[in-house]
Amino acid sequence: MTSYFFPPEFVSDLRSRVDIVELVGDYVALTKAGANYKGLCPFHGEKTPSFTVHQGKAIFHCFGCGVGGDVVSFLKRIENLSYPETLVRLAARASIDISSYERRRGSVEAQAKARSERENLVQAVACAQNFFARQLEANIEGKAGLYLQKRGIDPLQAKTFGLGFAPDSWSALKDEMGRRKIDERVAVAAGLLVQKEGSNRRYDRFRDRLIFPIRDVSGVVIGFGGRSLGDGEPKYLNSPESVIFNKRRLLYDLHHARPAIAKSGSAFLVEGYMDALSLYLRGVDNVIATLGTALSEENVGAVKRYTSNVAIFFDNDRAGRAAAFRSLPLFMAVGIMPDIVLLPDGIKDPDQLASGLDDQGLQQALARQTSLFDFFLQEKGAGLNGYNDRLQFLREVLEMVLRLPDDPLRGMALRSTSETLRLAEEIVLDEYRRVRLHRQRFPAGGGKLSPAAPEAVGVNGSSSQSLSRLVSQPEEIILATLLNYPELNDEFGEDYLELVENPDCCKLYRELAQFGDCGDSKALLQQLAGSGEDDALCSLYARLVHLPAPAEDLEMAQKVVCDCFVSLRRRQSHEQARNLDRELTQCRDEEEMFALLRRKMELKKRAMAS
Ligand code: UTP
Ligand code: MN
Repeated sequence: MTSYFFPPEFVSDLRSRVDIVELVGDYVALTKAGANYKGLCPFHGEKTPSFTVHQGKAIFHCFGCGVGGDVVSFLKRIENLSYPETLVRLAARASIDISSYERRRGSVEAQAKARSERENLVQAVACAQNFFARQLEANIEGKAGLYLQKRGIDPLQAKTFGLGFAPDSWSALKDEMGRRKIDERVAVAAGLLVQKEGSNRRYDRFRDRLIFPIRDVSGVVIGFGGRSLGDGEPKYLNSPESVIFNKRRLLYDLHHARPAIAKSGSAFLVEGYMDALSLYLRGVDNVIATLGTALSEENVGAVKRYTSNVAIFFDNDRAGRAAAFRSLPLFMAVGIMPDIVLLPDGIKDPDQLASGLDDQGLQQALARQTSLFDFFLQEKGAGLNGYNDRLQFLREVLEMVLRLPDDPLRGMALRSTSETLRLAEEIVLDEYRRVRLHRQRFPAGGGKLSPAAPEAVGVNGSSSQSLSRLVSQPEEIILATLLNYPELNDEFGEDYLELVENPDCCKLYRELAQFGDCGDSKALLQQLAGSGEDDALCSLYARLVHLPAPAEDLEMAQKVVCDCFVSLRRRQSHEQARNLDRELTQCRDEEEMFALLRRKMELKKRAMAS
């Protein structure tokens, strides 16, 4: 950037002339709380506001992450600018002329060099924006104007929105860059010109396209989306990623929609530039769009700063619905339960809806919303018949529910799940606990949750849960408990041996059962584990003695062991039932089939009894 020397008086003057509530309000939805303003901190993820702005003192502070400062440090941090860049931006905001602080040294070229890379790219893009807009004006009687007309946009609206036209030429913009003394290499870096690898030839990226400017959250144009006027491929061509253009972080038209979102307390998320534009032209302002890419975590974070009331408004086709469903877990992870706008049959996207209805009809159509989560359950789950498919789907849903940061939301989501999938609430809750435990154990998403391996279920949730997080099997909890309470060895004894399937655990359990309550069972097991060359046994023993005490007292210990056996028995009968099912599907003999069915009934009865 042009370099400046700002005297200290200038900086303190600047501080007093920029209203901190207004500045912060551009990025954060603030509400008045006493003498201060409060909002969700833009610097860390949070769901209850701990970010405070003090208008009188002109400072901000976040009690959540500890960040604080004045207007300068706020803008610097949120826009990721250098200190001088920040001052220049604030001066522009306060309409302060800073030309007298310019350091005049060197040529125009030297000054250009001194500009930061970012600034250079922004300047090149601004130049292109200007050029495209002029081209559209010049072509308003030509094919660009004709195209606008076809899409129901009048020239004034196009101008207000900053639309442009890239002429059908390989060098129109390139020549303009030359006239404006913009380095072609900068134009390449900004994605305006294309340079083939290993060649010096550069040419215009956008040719014969209607141009949608893409702005960052503060309104600076940083890239373009170009709509082909005919059937040319691709339909939309976007600026490539660059220092200033990052699709993951950008949302189309957020800059413009921000105040409307704040005012209405809600936002529509659409897929296309045209969708956003059409709705805007019909007076629906709280609309943002993704940039032709899947919604990212950053996008969701950006939305969350302004509102938690999001209505997904994607295309009325499979792809649109699939994209909506893919966005669901991302939203849920930040505690947003979005709605989905249901388009009437035959209407393909928001653009078509907006241009085909009168105001009242449009408002009614926009109000046809339902919870995206419920819609997802209905669309994907309600029609499932196979048991495995249903279980699989239930788990997928529960993984999503698990992401919700709020307990009440989780409760509501579980309720919807049980209703839509027609499953008893206890079943859903049980499975939810299992999935949760599993996640705690495999936070990275690894580990397969097998249908026949129920978790150890303790009596008193908390103690046995924290325990089972550390071990993998109920068998191990049983052993660890028996080690600490040898009195129980006799009580359970060899009768239960058949339930202990893990061979190593089985070995140790048999020893304990035979040993009974007569002395130091730890020493016994140590000897046993240490005597052989059995590595698995050794490590099992080592793990067992290092487990935290599984129960506080004998009574609790007894319950813990008992519960673990119950869950082992359940596991065993699940397995047997599955085997029976398998046999049943293969069985062709009536007699045998009845025998199998009888066994299955018995199993069920036993399971109910336990
Ligand atoms: P759509 O194909 O749904 O476009 O792509 P649309 O909004 O209906 O466009 P019109 O009405 O035919 O003009 C939605 C969005 O996906 C991105 C763009 O951001 C577009 O707005 N997209 C689409 C691309 O980036 N490239 C493409 O080739 C197509
Ligand atoms: Mn579309």
